[in-house]
Amino acid sequence: MNRLRELSIAQRLAAMFALAALLVFALVGTTLYKVLETQIVRYQHAELETKLRYVAGSVAVCDLRERWYKVQDKVENLTSSDRSTKIWAWSDDAGFRIGAQTPKIEAPTKRDRGMGRLWLSDSDAPYRTLEEWIPARGERPPVRLWIGIDSQPYVAALRSFALALVALGVVGTALVALLGHWIARVGLRPLQRLSGQAQTLSPSNLSQRLQPTDLPPELCRLTDAFNGALDRLEAAYVRLDAFNADVAHELRTPLTNLMGQTQVALSRPREAAQLEDVLQSNLEELERMRGIVNDMLFLSRADQGDIALDRVCVPLAEEVAKTGEFLEYLLEEAGMRLRIEGVADAWIDTSLFRRAMTNLLHNAVQYATPGSEIVVELREAGEAPSDCGSGVRVAVRNQGSSVDAEHLVRIFDRFYRVDAAREHRGERHHGLGLSIVKAIAALHGGKVFASSDDGATTVGFNLAPPRNAAA
Ligand SMILES: Nc1ncnc2c1ncn2[C@@H]1O[C@H](COP(=O)(O)OP(=O)(O)OP(=O)(O)O)[C@@H](O)[C@H]1O
Ligand SMILES: [Mg+2]
Repeated sequence: MNRLRELSIAQRLAAMFALAALLVFALVGTTLYKVLETQIVRYQHAELETKLRYVAGSVAVCDLRERWYKVQDKVENLTSSDRSTKIWAWSDDAGFRIGAQTPKIEAPTKRDRGMGRLWLSDSDAPYRTLEEWIPARGERPPVRLWIGIDSQPYVAALRSFALALVALGVVGTALVALLGHWIARVGLRPLQRLSGQAQTLSPSNLSQRLQPTDLPPELCRLTDAFNGALDRLEAAYVRLDAFNADVAHELRTPLTNLMGQTQVALSRPREAAQLEDVLQSNLEELERMRGIVNDMLFLSRADQGDIALDRVCVPLAEEVAKTGEFLEYLLEEAGMRLRIEGVADAWIDTSLFRRAMTNLLHNAVQYATPGSEIVVELREAGEAPSDCGSGVRVAVRNQGSSVDAEHLVRIFDRFYRVDAAREHRGERHHGLGLSIVKAIAALHGGKVFASSDDGATTVGFNLAPPRNAAA
């Protein structure tokens, strides 16, 4: 089986062609052989019948002992010209006989068209025979007449024919296999060209694509699909590259700060209190770095499906309210109010849901006009409000400057910030908050959305109903 798998396509096709040719040759050969055999039997029957009529006619008119020689003459004439024919006549009277004894004939078969078979010692093929009973006339008693024809020449002809057919079949099959192999190799040449092109692809020439020119339609479709996959891979590769650069960039700033502060602190002797200040400031930078690393780890685990959800059915309004309480200090500081609209129950992992809500509300507080109202809209997709079996929509709306459409489509990308240069209230943002919301929505089988116009920005996510809510 393994050796079969190792065969090339050309070899497999050649083997299949050969098998098909062998079957066709066998079928055609067997049919031809059968037709010839039937024709021979028919011919022998007609031949015997003619001769039998001829001899039987002369026996029938013979009514006197003296006239029996006429029959014998006719028989002599018939058999001397053609030694392959034998004739026997038997009656109770020895004067009306031809041959020393009656022939031992096997019972006739349908296949032989009613002809009997007689095996004689001088031939390795049987004689085919016909017999007739001729009633008594005058002096002559009833006579049984047999006529036989040697089938040896026919059997020999049939044998040579069968041999020729087998030889033709073997040579034909071998020829078909060779031709099939050659045809398959010629037919597969475009595939070889394609494989040659594919071998030149490498990460150093990511934009290179397979050229579909001069290719048959089947391979054109394959090339298109392959080029599509290359497009996606290139996009993913570029994103990954950009992501790496972003990570390096984001970590470089706190690292530079840490080094700078430490070098300044070490440049001359310091009081313990001054050193404590430096350490405190370093600790803040380190915490920020830990935040970035933790967020990245979370995103990578979510990407790999490495996060198990602990889903429970809860009223979302309560969860949003609890998250709001947690951010109360921030809301108060910005003079903002939080309002929850609508009710909805959903199967969620509460800690992940709160993390997503914290990120959304944090953004709303950061990017909304101070003193404005933040609205969280909860809407259930199904008819029954609390059956927990339908999807829900969670949207956070706030007032503030609108986000342009070109940015809106990218705000869920990792490290993407609309205004990267601007720092809000001295805090540093890394552009990972909404990526985490997107990952959490995806873990719940949902999708994120965002819209912004007339100074109102809405960002949120849908949660798909779990496949088996009771599980
Ligand atoms: N409610 C909002 N109103 C206006 N702009 C928003 C809003 N939410 C997000 N954005 C824009 O989308 C960008 C990405 O948001 P995201 O939460 O991913 O990053 P961040 O808030 O900048 O940093 P982080 O959340 O990591 O502290 C933000 O930088 C901001 O420009
Ligand atoms: Mg944010």
